[in-house]
Amino acid sequence: MTPYVADPIYLNGRFLPLAEAGISPLDRGFLYGDGVYELIPVYSRRAFRIDEHIHRLQMTLDGIKLANPLSADGWKAVVLTLIETAPWDDQSIYLQVTRGADDKRDHAFPPASVPPTVFAFASPLVTTPAEVRATGVAAITVPDLRWSRCDLKVISLLANILARQQAVEQGCAEALLIRDGFMKEGAASNIFIVRDGVLCAPPKTQLMLPGITYDVILELAQRHGQPVKIAEIEETELRAADEVWMTSSTKEILAITTLDGHPVGTGKPGPLGEQMWQWYQDFKNSVMRKG
Ligand code: PDD
Repeated sequence: MTPYVADPIYLNGRFLPLAEAGISPLDRGFLYGDGVYELIPVYSRRAFRIDEHIHRLQMTLDGIKLANPLSADGWKAVVLTLIETAPWDDQSIYLQVTRGADDKRDHAFPPASVPPTVFAFASPLVTTPAEVRATGVAAITVPDLRWSRCDLKVISLLANILARQQAVEQGCAEALLIRDGFMKEGAASNIFIVRDGVLCAPPKTQLMLPGITYDVILELAQRHGQPVKIAEIEETELRAADEVWMTSSTKEILAITTLDGHPVGTGKPGPLGEQMWQWYQDFKNSVMRKG
């Protein structure tokens, strides 16, 4: 076991130690990035919104025309075994399916007889330390160089990787992706802004990943009577925002307090972000941890 990956992992129907797991170098995930993934947070050994994650996995598989190798119950059984055998109570479960390994390299799909490669493992869920939350994080904006199906959670993430690395090299935590003058999302997160007390988020289109956390935040806003506006966010609106947050299954809700070197609002995490974080924690402790 590495400190980050629990043993056993799951590979193609078997649970085995990571050190014993192997795949062909002809695997299309390796050759082409031809595959899909999911990341499911686990709180107190309970997988959060597993049905929604399995549904998004199905949507992505449909989007790349790859048959789902497992039923929903089959996925749940894999996830449950990983959770039970991992040493941590809070985990993140990674699932990946690729189009498998043919006996040659060819862009077109392999014959139906080539089985997909199915891989899954558990890691510890590492949430943001309180001292980072207290200050918020810095972000940059970069052009969105991704393809036109950003709603699919595919493993070919090169544009996201280059954007995130650019942020890291500038001492920042995230890169916000700008396409045609609009802010779509982060390299690995959804982005919300607050303007005059209204929580604003871009709509779900093919140019943004439909985050599971995004849905939870909108549900919590509705439950607590928080005004919400779902509309495309212009770059100029982003820059004038009172608050900017990044959200994801691992980051939960994290304030972006510096954007391209300029303070966001007061330059400190704002009141609505703090409130939403608290609603999220209450929800996590009262609902997510109880199944
Ligand atoms: N990424 N947008 C992008 C591009 C993402 O990669 C992610 C999550 C999200 C947020 O989705 P969710 O709320 O379902 O985690 C939005 C995961 C954490 C990752 O790639 O590791």
